[in-house]
Order: sequence, then C-alpha cells, then structure tokens
Amino acid sequence: MKALIAVLAGDGIGPEVTAEAVRALDRIAQRFNHEFEFKEGLLGGAAIDATGLPLPPATLELAQRADATLLGAVGGPKWSDPGAQVRPEQGLLQLRKALGLFANLRPVVPHARLSDVSPIKEHLLRGVDIMVVRELTGGIYFGAKTRSATEAVDECRYSLAEIERVVRVAATLARGRRRKLTSVDKANVLETSRLWRATVDLLLPAEFPDVAYEHMLVDSAAMHLLQRPRDFDVIVTENMFGDILTDEASMLVGSMGLLPSASLGADARGGLFEPIHGSAPDIAGRGVANPYAAILSAAMLLRHSLALTPEAEALERAVYRAIESGVLPADLIPRGVATPGAATPGAAAPEAPTPRPAATTRAAADAVLAGL
Ligand code: IPM
Ligand code: MN
Repeated sequence: MKALIAVLAGDGIGPEVTAEAVRALDRIAQRFNHEFEFKEGLLGGAAIDATGLPLPPATLELAQRADATLLGAVGGPKWSDPGAQVRPEQGLLQLRKALGLFANLRPVVPHARLSDVSPIKEHLLRGVDIMVVRELTGGIYFGAKTRSATEAVDECRYSLAEIERVVRVAATLARGRRRKLTSVDKANVLETSRLWRATVDLLLPAEFPDVAYEHMLVDSAAMHLLQRPRDFDVIVTENMFGDILTDEASMLVGSMGLLPSASLGADARGGLFEPIHGSAPDIAGRGVANPYAAILSAAMLLRHSLALTPEAEALERAVYRAIESGVLPADLIPRGVATPGAATPGAAAPEAPTPRPAATTRAAADAVLAGL
C-alpha cells in the first residue's frame, strides 16, 4: 500500500518521540512491503514561532491531503502566558475541528510487567481492558468564550447529532469487545448531559440491542475507575470529562507515557494519531522521553486509518516485548527504584540493589525495532 503520512511533531518532547514512531512505521513498511511517504508540518508553539499561527494553512492542507496524521505534542512554558491571544493548544483544537475528528479512542490496557509502576493495587489491575471514547469536537472546548474584567463564560453545547455519532462509534467498538458500554455524564446537573443520556437511551436499544449499557455520573465514574476498573469495557463521554478521566485512567497503566490515542471522523482515512501525554517541557531535548505511547499511536494509525491490522498487531507486540524484556524509560521505573543515570551516579535507592538504568528514548525504540 502507498500512504501519505503527515507528521506534526509539535513542541517539547513531541519531536523526539515522533521521530521514533516514524522510524517504527518505516520498519513496518520495509517488512510488509508498503510505501509510506512522510511529510512534516508545523503545529503548536513551533508553528507560532515560525508563522505567528498555531495551525498554519499549509499544515491543515497537508493533514487534509494525508491518509493519516501522526502528531507529537503541543505547548510549553514559552507560549503559556495566560494573557496570550495565540496559544499552541488552539492549533490542536482547530485541527481536530477542521478535520471533523469527533471520536477520540483512548485504550487503557495495563501491562503485567508494570504493575508496580501503577499506584493502583495489582489485584485490581488484572484483566483490565478499557476503551475510552471521548467526544472531541464539541462541548465546552468549542463553545463561545467571553471575558470581561470581572466575569468569564465558557459555553457548553451539544447537538443530538453530535451525541449520536460518537455513541455509535463507541457502541460499534463495544460490539467487537465485551459488549458493554458505560455512558458517562453529569445528568443530575447539566442540561447537555440530560440530552446525552436521553439520546443514549433511545439509540442503544434501537440500534445496538446486543450491547448492554449503563449510565454513570462522572464523579462516580472517577471513583469506580480506581475501585473496580475491571468492570469497564467501553466508556463513552463528552469532551472535557473524557480529557480528565483518561489522565486518571493512565494511572491504571502506570504512566501517561504508555497511552496512545486515535482521533477519527466519519471516514477511517485521515485520522489523527497522538500520544495522550503532553509536551513534557521539563524533560524535552534530553533524549529520555518514553517513545512507547507515540509508537503505539503509530500502531493505531496502521489499524484505524490504513486498515493494516496485522501490521498494527506486529508493532504492538514489539512494544509489549520491549517492555517485557525490561527496556523501561524513566517514567516506567517505580519511584525510588530508578537510577537517575550517569549524570547523578550513586543515587540508587537502597531497596533496589541492582536496578537497571532507565532506557533512553532511542534505546527504547531500538528495542521495539529489534522485535519487528
Ligand atoms: C489532550 C490534551 C489536549 C486536550 C490539550 C493539549 C488541548 O490535554 O489531548 O488530552 O485537552 O484535549
Ligand atoms: Mn488531556
């Protein structure tokens, strides 16, 4: 297959981890005889610096033309002045909206080898396999915003059609899994949530009678995610609840550095694939960022936009094997056990007599490539 893949590395650790994801896709192309063409575009702070805009027209045009887009991360202290009119995050939000990517898939699958990295007890993590479907182009993120000296307003609105289409994506995914859907809202307070709930109640029995569903209030869902994560299969929720719950859910896995995501629109082609972690400016440029989430995002790209399932599975297996063999970047080493590396020698914690040093970004990606 021939495919054009847009690469928007963005800011902070974005360029470092995206470079490794591209290397992994290159290797897949060799192994499976595909022709992937990569074209880079500017997004976020890097784009503001170069053009004054967080999403330059050339970047949007590239993403619209591409079969899929691989994205790193946007944002950083350089552009985070709260008074700034132009911010990196606007570029990401505009891109999601302009491409019509309303469904954001965030799989949460803890890895046995990393149970001591997660702050959650091991027995609660066994068998956990959750797919969060976050609505991505509506709600409070995209409502009208106003600000005066003494007041600020963020409007939250959802249309019936916006709710229906994302619920359909989630229910379809549930059908291919354990056939259980949890719809998360705040229907005891918010009108948008009451419309959400009513829509689910009409749509599920009519179109997905084979999928069991429940409603859960978002505050309660935040608790149950930690108390009994195994009970969840597919979760569908609105934009901001999904943003918050998936950072929380990443702790089931142990690190944000392991969670990929796929943002999809009406067509499978033209999706946007990015790790859920941010630009991590504190560790940017040091070659120590965890590339696994970016590489797993590349696997989601293969699966969802290019329909290359065996290739996606091969790449995911290679990541799991790298983890299994103990090639762990710093964020995957339990606190108090990591050796901070050569820069600060002799700092190993007493409970870890012979800890392995943390893997660099390159070494972790090399371990993945070695398994392909
Ligand atoms: C995410 C991020 C973004 C979001 C930010 C960077 C705008 O947190 O993808 O989860 O809130 O959607
Ligand atoms: Mn987020």
